[in-house]
Amino acid sequence: MEEAGGGDFKINITDILIQKIKINGEWKIRGKLLKMIPIERLGSGIPGLDEMLEGGFPIPSTILLSGEPGTGKTTLAVQSLFHGARQKEIGLYITAVSEPGWVIQKFLSQYDFYSQKLIESEVVQFLDIGRIKDGEKILAKLLGNIERFQPKRIVIDSINPIRSRLEDTGEYRELMYDLLSSLKGYGCVTILICEASYSDLPKLSEAYLSDGIIVLSYREMEGSRKKYLEVLKMRGTDHTTGMRSVNISKKGLLVYPELR
Ligand SMILES: Nc1ncnc2c1ncn2[C@@H]1O[C@H](COP(=O)(O)OP(=O)(O)OP(=O)(O)O)[C@@H](O)[C@H]1O
Ligand SMILES: [Mg+2]
Repeated sequence: MEEAGGGDFKINITDILIQKIKINGEWKIRGKLLKMIPIERLGSGIPGLDEMLEGGFPIPSTILLSGEPGTGKTTLAVQSLFHGARQKEIGLYITAVSEPGWVIQKFLSQYDFYSQKLIESEVVQFLDIGRIKDGEKILAKLLGNIERFQPKRIVIDSINPIRSRLEDTGEYRELMYDLLSSLKGYGCVTILICEASYSDLPKLSEAYLSDGIIVLSYREMEGSRKKYLEVLKMRGTDHTTGMRSVNISKKGLLVYPELR
């Protein structure tokens, strides 16, 4: 049985009604959404991907980008970062493998989307957390830099070395939980790169915590390996299901509207 609370506690914050309500004799505070709040989106910068996501990545969101070695995870994530940077959005690329920035940049500079100028002007920032071995320190370093640079897009490449450094303990799960909850307040899109295949996903806590999952994969077809992309989940938006063919070239990664 519900009973509205005598008008003594009723705040209307445009789209959310907060009310004091008596439920079975007990007073409770309850929030009620009054109308649909439109979801803001960020264009992914990946040809063919936005069409699969009703226009782009929902903001805020954390997207797990998983796939086996060489399927194009880094390419997709960094291409998206540079796409945003060309529109003056700050992008933060966080490496967890302790490779010097120039080594990663040398490989990425082979792509047309790469711009040394955007790195020099600090629109795209590179951050190395490869040597930090303590969960709390990793979280402090990540949140400190996010607070400082206010990035609109963040890439963590990848979560696997962080997990193995913390030996997949409660400390790792706590770090992920705290990080993902904190990120919700920053209004940004975070791509968490994960070295995992389809069969690994149900065992990964990150897969449940993330708002979206995109899987890159390859299969042997007629004697050659072909690459594919599939959107497995994306909270807050309709999305295309099923695999799409992917091509990687000097121009970066693109998703075809069908299987090839
Ligand atoms: N210029 C290019 N032309 C065609 N294909 C390319 C080009 N550059 C890279 N590739 C392809 O992209 C793959 C590398 O992609 P990327 O490094 O983004 O994958 P990854 O999933 O991040 O790999 P890892 O798991 O090893 O980090 C190469 O293995 C190659 O197949
Ligand atoms: Mg990579």
